[in-house]
Amino acid sequence: MFDFQYFAPTKVAFGRNSLQKLSSLIAEQGCKKVLLHYGGGSAERSGLLSVVRGALAAAGAAFVELGGVKPNPRLSLVREGIALARAEGVDFLLAVGGGSVIDSAKAIGYGLKNQGDVWDFYEGLRKPSACMPVGVVLTIAAAGSEMSNSSVITNDEVEGWLKRSCNTDYARPRFAVMDPALTFTLPPYQTACGCTDILMHTMERYFTSGGNMQITDSLAEGLMRTVIANAKLLVSNPADYDARAEVMWAGAVSHNGLTGCGNNGGDWAVHGIEHELGGLYDVAHGAGLAAVWTAWANYVYKDCLTRFYLFAVRVMGVRPSGTREGVAREGIERFTAFLADIGMPVTLSELGVSPSDEDIARMARLCAATGGGKKGSAKILYAADIAQILKNAV
Ligand code: NZQ
Ligand code: ZN
Repeated sequence: MFDFQYFAPTKVAFGRNSLQKLSSLIAEQGCKKVLLHYGGGSAERSGLLSVVRGALAAAGAAFVELGGVKPNPRLSLVREGIALARAEGVDFLLAVGGGSVIDSAKAIGYGLKNQGDVWDFYEGLRKPSACMPVGVVLTIAAAGSEMSNSSVITNDEVEGWLKRSCNTDYARPRFAVMDPALTFTLPPYQTACGCTDILMHTMERYFTSGGNMQITDSLAEGLMRTVIANAKLLVSNPADYDARAEVMWAGAVSHNGLTGCGNNGGDWAVHGIEHELGGLYDVAHGAGLAAVWTAWANYVYKDCLTRFYLFAVRVMGVRPSGTREGVAREGIERFTAFLADIGMPVTLSELGVSPSDEDIARMARLCAATGGGKKGSAKILYAADIAQILKNAV
């Protein structure tokens, strides 16, 4: 069992009537001017933005708007947001959307509260010392940014683009409004991408080679079983409120740190590889994770056999008979089949990506470099290993 710090300060308003609390949540912040930040149109189309504007007015908060956040949110829009918020005297950021909008808001928050180029924080050149406060109205259960310390931004100003994260507690949102009904309008593909990402946030913390805590394992295994069951329900009935609710709360809990307490910080190689794919090919994050997971698992499971065995038995329901390796492999196969069942790609070609050898070498090199030359915990991976996993994923 490892020592840990757990910090989850976000106030959560959850459920059917949670939007009604938005106005008082904003008023509690005591802010004077809000930047209302949102994505490419879904929140306007659904009528959500007009409800949010009403809540801001009711809270007596002046506001200015910046929409147009794209999935894999762009640095160029972050810069626009920083300039706008500075010019307007903004002192609070309200993100209405998913991980991309929330992460873009967090990046704007870093830019507003620190001197110099905000991208430095994502390159790991400097650490921010503050972030302007962020509040969230969540519209997709997926990234967990509504409670996480993370912000992931894509630099669209460099050739080949680069997707990088900055993780500090300054960026944990002050509040998150989570109404599962807001996710009814999601396309099935985005629902499945979200469920995959939620699972992966706990799986990255679960497949470690260090010590583990029983309580954390129980929470993690319960979360994984719950998301798998409800992701399947949502394929046939996207309007199942209870299934939406299970998945939405799982998304927040899966990435707020709870399912990693006492484990050794996690593996994060699959996320690292996806960030290279997302930067280069602009794929949906959850789909990118699904497309590399099986190749990764098959490459590492022998070095982390106990955890893969437990995952197979406790999460995927494999009978614990035969060799431990056989049970572990069956768990990997069942999880791969689950991903395919909910409509996720399980190879790079299914993802619609066919990288050249040169691209693979570049992604592997850059991915390893983000970990100081190596990634992972289930098995330590160097650039050559990552390149092999990418080749196996084709
Ligand atoms: O832009 P709009 O029109 O809103 O459409 C979005 C977008 O196209 C749509 N959408 C969202 N809510 C909807 C909806 N469509 C209909 N009805 C709704 N209620 O869904 C699409 C995807 O949205 P996005 O915000 O990109 O999804 P997600 O939450 O999966 O966020 C992905 C981003 O988060 C990063 C990913 O790398 C990616 O850039 N991550 C952030 C993390 C964090 N900050 O802690 C951790 C993750 O590991 C992840 O890396
Ligand atoms: Zn993720």
